Amino acid sequence: MTNRVRLAVVGCGDVAFRTYLPSLEQLGETSCVTATCDLDSGRAQRAAELSGRWSGDVRSYTDLGACLASGAFDGLINLTPGPSHPRVTQAALSAGVHVFSEKPLANSIPEAQALIALAKEQRRLLLCAPATTVTNRWQLVERLVKGGELGRPTLVTGGHSSMGPAGWRGYTGDPEPFYSPEVGPILDLGVYLLHAMTSLFGPALRVLASGRIAIPQRRVLSQGAAHRVIEVRTFDQVLLQLEFPDGMAQLITSFAVPASRAPVIEVHCTEGSVSLGQAGWFDPEAPVDVYRRDEDNEDAEGWRVETPSSPGPVDNLIGMGPAHFVACLRGEEEPVLTAEQACHVLEIALRAKESAAAGRALALETTF
Ligand SMILES: NC(=O)c1ccc[n+]([C@@H]2O[C@H](COP(=O)([O-])OP(=O)(O)OC[C@H]3O[C@@H](n4cnc5c(N)ncnc54)[C@H](O)[C@@H]3O)[C@@H](O)[C@H]2O)c1
Repeated sequence: MTNRVRLAVVGCGDVAFRTYLPSLEQLGETSCVTATCDLDSGRAQRAAELSGRWSGDVRSYTDLGACLASGAFDGLINLTPGPSHPRVTQAALSAGVHVFSEKPLANSIPEAQALIALAKEQRRLLLCAPATTVTNRWQLVERLVKGGELGRPTLVTGGHSSMGPAGWRGYTGDPEPFYSPEVGPILDLGVYLLHAMTSLFGPALRVLASGRIAIPQRRVLSQGAAHRVIEVRTFDQVLLQLEFPDGMAQLITSFAVPASRAPVIEVHCTEGSVSLGQAGWFDPEAPVDVYRRDEDNEDAEGWRVETPSSPGPVDNLIGMGPAHFVACLRGEEEPVLTAEQACHVLEIALRAKESAAAGRALALETTF
């Protein structure tokens, strides 16, 4: 257990306790938590006690400056609410600490680009969730599609929707930021698929979107804030189309969908299709359905199921983010969840909102 990457967890809320800390425990051979930080001292302490079980000595802080001044860690995992991400990431990079940020990377493109420049200047790694593209499941899709057996990819369709955190009874955090202009369904849910789409086709050229507020007020169902009413201040339903140099994609993302059995994402190629169902979306090793067409042999046509061949280091998609971060810091993997791709996806999300308001397609400028 020597040479473990030392990590600080900043923002000890729902996703920290639900997903990150259990995943970091699974990564206990290669990393340890040495600091936790939250504005709420009770949460910071609880996270420190929990991670102390596999990490050893963990100090808790309520002040990010004091946490950074301790110098007790190599990398910081930023799990604060979306609007706070750039401030926390900027402070950590300035202190010479590597950062893995939950999505979104920033609230604007200039802000994201400034963080990328700062990371370069400080020679520090800056990675960003979501971890869709480093899961064994998506790696299998990429191998199938890029391997050529299914021909050339032409179209990706996806849908990632729910009622959002206000409608999630088990949610322990504050649902309000998710319905604010800084977040909304594209940046909370759509990004999982936008990362997948852009990892297959590369940077997109143009975005055309429609959006609306379908349900303007939400009664909060989660235990901590039950019966509070939230005003929805961003499009809670977005239909989005992307043009790539050599392909197209379509995405439905919403906080106004009670349930769905549609596939999360499908990749259509000239000679076949790959389909990923809702069930198992957060399981990085869930099977995928593959259809192959064969114009010369009808018997060879049809669906089959393929399963990723090896287990990953953690058992959920979100936890693959810190797993990749730790592996990169140990020199075992090359960065995939780059800030540059996250910046491009952020531009798609922000331009989609503008496109929906303007009623026309808009060109995209960033690349990765
Ligand atoms: N909850 C999930 O299942 C989930 C899943 C994927 C991604 N995420 C992302 O994770 C992030 C956090 O979400 P959450 O659901 O855990 O929210 P949350 O509200 O439950 O937790 C956020 C925590 O950050 C703390 N905080 C706020 N500002 C801070 C600061 N400046 N310094 C230190 N602590 C600060 C808050 O006190 C709170 O405890 C968001 O970006 C969200 O999109 C959440």
